[in-house]
Amino acid sequence: MSASSDISGLFKWFGGRPEHYQEMPHDDLPYTDREPPLHLPAEVVVNLAEHDAPELPEQEPLEQVCKPLLAYASLDECVGKSSGSLPAENEEVWSSAGLQGLLAKLAQDDQSPLAGNDAASVGSLLERISVVAIVSAKGGVGKTTLSATLAAALYRAGRPVLAVDMDPQNALQHHFKAVTDSGKKRSRVLGIGYGERDWYACGVPSHSGVLVLPYGDVDEQQRLSIEQQMSSTSDWLARRLAEMDLSEGTIVVIDTPPGPSIYLRQALSVANEAVVVSLADAASYTSLPKIDSLIKTYTAGRDHFMGTSYLINQVDETRQLSRDITRILGELLGVRVLGLVHHDPSIGDALAYNHNILEYDPRSVASGDILSCSSALFARLAAKSSTREQ
Ligand SMILES: Nc1ncnc2c1ncn2[C@@H]1O[C@H](COP(=O)(O)OP(=O)(O)O)[C@@H](O)[C@H]1O
Ligand SMILES: [Mg+2]
Repeated sequence: MSASSDISGLFKWFGGRPEHYQEMPHDDLPYTDREPPLHLPAEVVVNLAEHDAPELPEQEPLEQVCKPLLAYASLDECVGKSSGSLPAENEEVWSSAGLQGLLAKLAQDDQSPLAGNDAASVGSLLERISVVAIVSAKGGVGKTTLSATLAAALYRAGRPVLAVDMDPQNALQHHFKAVTDSGKKRSRVLGIGYGERDWYACGVPSHSGVLVLPYGDVDEQQRLSIEQQMSSTSDWLARRLAEMDLSEGTIVVIDTPPGPSIYLRQALSVANEAVVVSLADAASYTSLPKIDSLIKTYTAGRDHFMGTSYLINQVDETRQLSRDITRILGELLGVRVLGLVHHDPSIGDALAYNHNILEYDPRSVASGDILSCSSALFARLAAKSSTREQ
C-alpha cells in the first residue's frame, strides 16, 4: 500500500475526507613548501606536493546526493489486502486486540534480520558507497574535528559526502555552517537520535558541500530508546542508510563516541574502513590495542570491511615526546598511517565560528595536514573499490 492509501484509510477511520489532508512542513593552499611529516617511514610519507588543495568540483545539488525514499512498512502486508479499502470482512483487525497484533507485527518486522529484497538493497548499497568510521579508545583526541574536516576534504575531492554523528554529544553539527534558506534558527535539531525514518529530511546541507546528519537534540528517554533499538537490531544503521537513496560513489563519514558502545558497533557494522585517531602521547599509545580488539570484534566475518588505518593528531614538534611517539607509531604501523595533523590553534578558532578549518584558514598547517590525510584516505578507498570490482 502507498503512503497515500494509508492516509486515505486513516481518514475513513476518523470519518474525514482525505482530499483535505495537508502535509505540515518541517521547521525548522596551497601548501607546497612544507616538509613531509616528521619521522614517518619513507613509504608512509605522502608526497605533499601532489596533494595541494584540489580545485572545488562543480557543486552537485544536494538533492542529487541523496533522494528521499519512502520505506514505510505496508499495513496491507499485515492484513493481507492489496487495495486501499478497509477489509470489512475481517473486523477483528479493527479491534484493539487486532491493532495490538498489527503493532506487534510492525515491531517484529523492524527487529527481524533483513530478508529478501531488503537484504539485497543493503548489500547493493554497501557495494555502491564507501563508509569510513572515525574511532578511538580515548575521548578528546579529535575524532569529531577530523570527521568534519575529512568529510569536507573528501567532498573537495569530488565525491558526494554524508557525515553522520553517532555520538550523543551531538557535536559534529557545530563544525559545519548550515545552509538555511530562511536564516531562521532551528527550534530543535533533528537527527538520528529521533529514530525518524526519513533521515534525508533530518540532513543539514552545509556550506562545505557535506550533508550533515546530526545526532539530534534528544532527551534521555529518546536516547535510551534509540540505543535499545540499536541493541536489538544488529543492522539498524545499514537499514537506515539503505532508506536514503545515496548516490553511487557517496562517501559516508561516521563520527563515534570513544571506546566500546552500541554506536561503535553499529558504525563498524557498515564501515569499509576504520580510521583510528590517536594523539602522540602515552595514554593514546597504550590504548591502541583496546580499539584494535574492538574493531576486530565488531567487524568479524564482514566481507565489506577492508581494514584499519591510523591518523596521529595534535602532533607538537616542539616536544620531544610528541616527536618520538609519532616516529614510533610510524615505524610500527607503517603504511597504515594516513598521516599526521599538527597541533594547530586555528582548529579551535574555526569551531568558534561553526566552520571547519579548511574554510576558515585554508593556509593553516592543520589544513595542509588534513588535505594530505584525506588524499591518502581517498586513495585507500579507491584502491578498495577497484579490488571489489575485480
Ligand atoms: N590538531 C588539533 N590542533 C589543535 N586542537 C585540536 C586539534 N584536533 C582537535 N583539537 C581540539 O581538541 C578538542 C577535542 O577535539 P574533538 O574533536 O572534540 O575530540 P573527540 O571527538 O575525540 O572527543 C577540541 O577542543 C578540538 O578543537
Ligand atoms: Mg567527539
